[in-house]
Amino acid sequence: MPVQIILGAQWGDEGKGKVVDMLAEQADVVARYQGGANAGHTVCIGDKQYVLHLLPSGMFHESCTCVIGNGVVIDPAALMGEIAQLEAAGIRVKGRLLISHNAHLIMPYHKQLDVIREQTSARIGTTGRGIGPAYIDKFMRAGIRIVDLLDRDTLARKLKANIEEKNQILTKVHGATKIDVDAIITEYQEFDQKIDEYITDTSLYLFQVLRDGKRVIAEGAQGALLDVDHGTYPFVTSSNPTSGGACTGLGIPPTAVSEVIGVAKAYCTRVGDGPVPTELNDATGTRLREAGHEFGATTGRPRRCGWYDAVAMQYSTRINGISRLVVTKLDVLDGFDEVRMCTGYEVAGKRLRSFPTDVRTLDQVRPLYESFEGWKTPVTGATAYEELPRQAKTYLTALARYTGAPLWLVSVGPRRDQSLFLPS
Ligand code: GDP
Ligand code: IMO
Ligand code: MG
Repeated sequence: MPVQIILGAQWGDEGKGKVVDMLAEQADVVARYQGGANAGHTVCIGDKQYVLHLLPSGMFHESCTCVIGNGVVIDPAALMGEIAQLEAAGIRVKGRLLISHNAHLIMPYHKQLDVIREQTSARIGTTGRGIGPAYIDKFMRAGIRIVDLLDRDTLARKLKANIEEKNQILTKVHGATKIDVDAIITEYQEFDQKIDEYITDTSLYLFQVLRDGKRVIAEGAQGALLDVDHGTYPFVTSSNPTSGGACTGLGIPPTAVSEVIGVAKAYCTRVGDGPVPTELNDATGTRLREAGHEFGATTGRPRRCGWYDAVAMQYSTRINGISRLVVTKLDVLDGFDEVRMCTGYEVAGKRLRSFPTDVRTLDQVRPLYESFEGWKTPVTGATAYEELPRQAKTYLTALARYTGAPLWLVSVGPRRDQSLFLPS
């Protein structure tokens, strides 16, 4: 059955937007399955660059229908802004976008609570988009869903109950000012008319298109190591970017999935707090950041950079079941005399057998590196895998071997055409 999951295999920002956009040419549907406007997926078409936060990266192919699944948390204001932006750029959204009636809404108080918590010792460096508090309400069974926008009385009743409780927390725990219930009710009731035409039972829609033999891409946001269950907890997001999240986040069965495409950079980055065993706090790290333009697509924060971590990637391959590996940003390593790859971890002189997800162990890890000869010829202009310099191919072959996943595609620049499939 033809669902291809495309997910981030590291700590996010691996280039999922580019890869989904490129592969969407062959797809009928692209469906986002989790996260919210914390994501920033960049798509470069010619000299134009678009950053999508909520809309799936299939928007740039007119024949693609795009779905926002039940697992996504939606900030209606951010969504409307994004739709308007694309429409202004001449990209038709109306008639091509479907939003799950079961997706939860991000409310202004979620963002407020996210920002307040980040000012305490519980800080983890979130994007401040209200993601954690929105998922808390979902799992508390207190969330407000897209479907609630369609019934004014239900929306007003649920909002009043929620805001009463949030006001207690805001004023009594955090000493913040009260939220104005009526203003929020009016604001969100207005989304009703704007959003109505997009709302449907997207799980049923996906069942029907799959039954008709159509091709579906499930697009993940963030990355496996930010997964709330499998990532470097508590320095994670509040959803499941791993492959299992695609089934719960879209309402599709695991038997519908034919491929899990894991996207990883040829090195490592992370934005926000939490362990990165291969982080380079030196001139090499700065060089990676500058050459890779490693600044967040959502918050503009500088990304922390380090060498490729094959131990973490082996773990990611295992928990996601990565059947095809995509390596992006190989061009960023152009010109290095030496390129390194972490192929093992040691703690207190002992070699670890697998990636530890507890942060106390991760903080003590000593990465063991293998060194590779760098390449001096830029790879951005390569039009076929065979054209890559010998040293780059040696690096990629070792990378796939240590990762334990078959290398399928190599990206050597942000544009669609800067993509090299491996010879089959
Ligand atoms: P995403 O969140 O996984 O979609 O990734 P982001 O969009 O946050 O960050 C990836 C950045 O790398 C974007 O600016 C892309 O345009 C860019 N990019 C993607 N692939 C490549 C590549 O192969 N080489 C270079 N130099 N840039 C790339
Ligand atoms: P894309 O889809 C990189 C990080 C934040 C923070 C942690 C929790 O573009 O790859 P949150 O706001 O989700 O509660 O923050 O997760 N984070 C991302 N890092 N790429 C992303 O998305 C991210 N979305 C969240 O920096 O460390
Ligand atoms: Mg991103």
